[in-house]
Amino acid sequence: MPEDWAEGGSPPGVRTIGDPLLREAAPSVPGIDLGVRQVLDTLTHSLRALGGAGLAAPQLGIPSALAVVEVRRTELFPHRPESGSICLVNPRVADQSGPDEEDWEGCFSVPGLVGRVRRPGRISVEHLSLDGGTVVSPFEGYLARVVQHEIDHLEGVLYLDRVTDTRTLSTLGHYRRTLAH
Ligand code: NI
Repeated sequence: MPEDWAEGGSPPGVRTIGDPLLREAAPSVPGIDLGVRQVLDTLTHSLRALGGAGLAAPQLGIPSALAVVEVRRTELFPHRPESGSICLVNPRVADQSGPDEEDWEGCFSVPGLVGRVRRPGRISVEHLSLDGGTVVSPFEGYLARVVQHEIDHLEGVLYLDRVTDTRTLSTLGHYRRTLAH
């Protein structure tokens, strides 16, 4: 977890709120090619360096419908369930079902803050697999939350737009000291 992000700064190379690219829908890619694989590699390496759970291409200034998700436990989020590495190419939520779940979210593009967001607890996502076929993948719980957060990025939506109650917004400092559980 980069301290500059926790303190309200932005990690190097990550676009932050106010950048118009974060508010645009990212165009789909025509298929899986070397360029797409390279962007996915870059996203995966950046995500691991940042210690985050997900990262979308527009956050690195790349206007393509590509994102990666890899949930690892961190000092800040020591209890979340871990996942394997998931590449999302042209992802689209095809189905969602409840019950809705509410939990904390943060974002490297919104430095220094966390807030409570309510989202469907189960989703099915249609996307391209790395061999180029269209597949539908089910996600639930915390992983479904992270996947929805990243798909939102590809549609120009930030978690702040979905915060259940803006009075839950908190600095990471307050979250660490009093709210983390
Ligand atoms: Ni984000």
